[in-house]
Amino acid sequence: MILKEVIKSAVCCYFKDEITMSNIVVENPKERKMGDYALPCFSYAKVVHKAPNVIAEELKVYLVNHCSLIERVEAIGGYANVFLDRGRIAEEVLTTIIAQKDNYGYNDSGLGKTIVIDYSSPNIAKPFGVGHLRSTVIGNALRNICKKNGYNVIGINYLGDWGTQFGKMICAYKMWGNTEEIKKNPIDELKRLYVKFHEEAEKDPSLEDLGRKAFKDLEDGDPKSLELWKWFRDESLIEFKKTYDLLGVSDFDSWQGESFYNDKMDVVVEELEDKHLLEESEGAMIVSLDNDLPPALIKRSDGATLYITRDLAAAIHRKKEYDFAEALYVVGNEQSLHFNQLKQVLAKMGYEWNKDIHHISFGLILQNGKKMSTRHGKSVKLHDVLEEAIALSKEYMMNRNSTLDNIDLISQKVGVGAVIFNDLKNYRINDIEFHLEDILKFEGETGPYIQYTYARIMSLLENKKNIEFSFKNVTFNEYEWYLIFNLYQFADVIKRAKENYDPSEVAKYLIDIARDFNKWYALERMIDEDVEKTESRLLVAEATSIVIKEGMRLLGIEVLNKM
Ligand code: ARG
Repeated sequence: MILKEVIKSAVCCYFKDEITMSNIVVENPKERKMGDYALPCFSYAKVVHKAPNVIAEELKVYLVNHCSLIERVEAIGGYANVFLDRGRIAEEVLTTIIAQKDNYGYNDSGLGKTIVIDYSSPNIAKPFGVGHLRSTVIGNALRNICKKNGYNVIGINYLGDWGTQFGKMICAYKMWGNTEEIKKNPIDELKRLYVKFHEEAEKDPSLEDLGRKAFKDLEDGDPKSLELWKWFRDESLIEFKKTYDLLGVSDFDSWQGESFYNDKMDVVVEELEDKHLLEESEGAMIVSLDNDLPPALIKRSDGATLYITRDLAAAIHRKKEYDFAEALYVVGNEQSLHFNQLKQVLAKMGYEWNKDIHHISFGLILQNGKKMSTRHGKSVKLHDVLEEAIALSKEYMMNRNSTLDNIDLISQKVGVGAVIFNDLKNYRINDIEFHLEDILKFEGETGPYIQYTYARIMSLLENKKNIEFSFKNVTFNEYEWYLIFNLYQFADVIKRAKENYDPSEVAKYLIDIARDFNKWYALERMIDEDVEKTESRLLVAEATSIVIKEGMRLLGIEVLNKM
């Protein structure tokens, strides 16, 4: 049941179709006590030749008589404020949630359409840094949210596993590498070699050429180079998977990284040539762009391809393979130029579907206002951040309740959940502050706060007897009603989160739900002698737990029965 639509059609009848459905406005009032919905009457005045307050007065009588879901209407200052029949709506909302369980909130608007999401996409032979946290968790949440809107979703981990840096790495390995050391500690050792290469290249610039030449060999399929590259890649994936497991993110549909496109770029370059888009510039091949965009560099003068060359091949390949309705790229703000260039080159090639490509950008993770880094200014490993969050969360848990069974598992879910929730609760474009102590707090806008609310409901539900009761006999007080009405909004939130590609819609909603629940919980005795009312309260609590659990699942966070 879509309440706003029901009210709109009743208002439409009142106007005897002088005003169309699409012109009828149903708002959420500024304050909850002003009603469940507000109908501003100003824009109708000219059409029906009546003053707004007159329209509001007439609607007040009309709606109560013609819409059984409305209990009363107040006319104030040109607004008709609608108060719904709480008993009826509560019955509808609660029974729907209990019947649909984790399916509640689903809509099928995406049925038959595919969305491809390119997310996480770390670079191999480097540590999985905290810089890739945001893409990973935002992408994962968007993936769940799109599915909840009925879309078929393909999650792609477009690994950064190709490019000149691997030529340099191969050179460095050949010059200074030690197989045993790499086997012991692959990522750190490869990173060390890579850094050493750069240090040495400062003294001896000819190394740069050597690196480029080595990448060219790799591109041309030299077996020895490929073997080394594959080894680096395999070792990296083993490491990355540990981090994904900890985060609870692992179900990518595809791991086709940049290297996958090595043999798919020639046709793209030919196509650019055939379409007369390719120009030579200082030995390199470029595509000139409009609107002040710098040209896209497609091939370097030595013939090597670039990041954008691979992204062009990947976009065209994905369109052929999946016939996507939308392709999302969850990548930081700093790559905006790259994605603008990519879209424009595709447009110039005549691919109208370039408009279905969306760069889902996001801000930085800051610590005290500065980009998060180690004391030596290096990038922080995501695994270390998560381990630290888990350790501190364990400390907090021990202080609160040391009798918990499997405290390690609980601390893990709470610590990791806190990191993810902190990332998703703000609009993604904004930079986020990262303060372990704050994000692990049990009060405020945190993951643990939501998880704790869930656990509280779970222990309450141990008292549930599942007796039948009649909604006609029970009444819902103010706080209980706000909560129920908010539970009703879940489907809307899921739609908005998809439309804006914004998981924070869901996170903020969960904060509201948890707040509503806790306010109600603090003011009312949940279990008393009134058996029917007690059972109705527990039903509201159960419905709340279903929505919290499902909302958290969409964000990629687990809830706990006890904590
Ligand atoms: N590996 C890249 C990086 O770490 C991100 C890749 C994003 N996806 C893409 N199709 N370009 O910066």
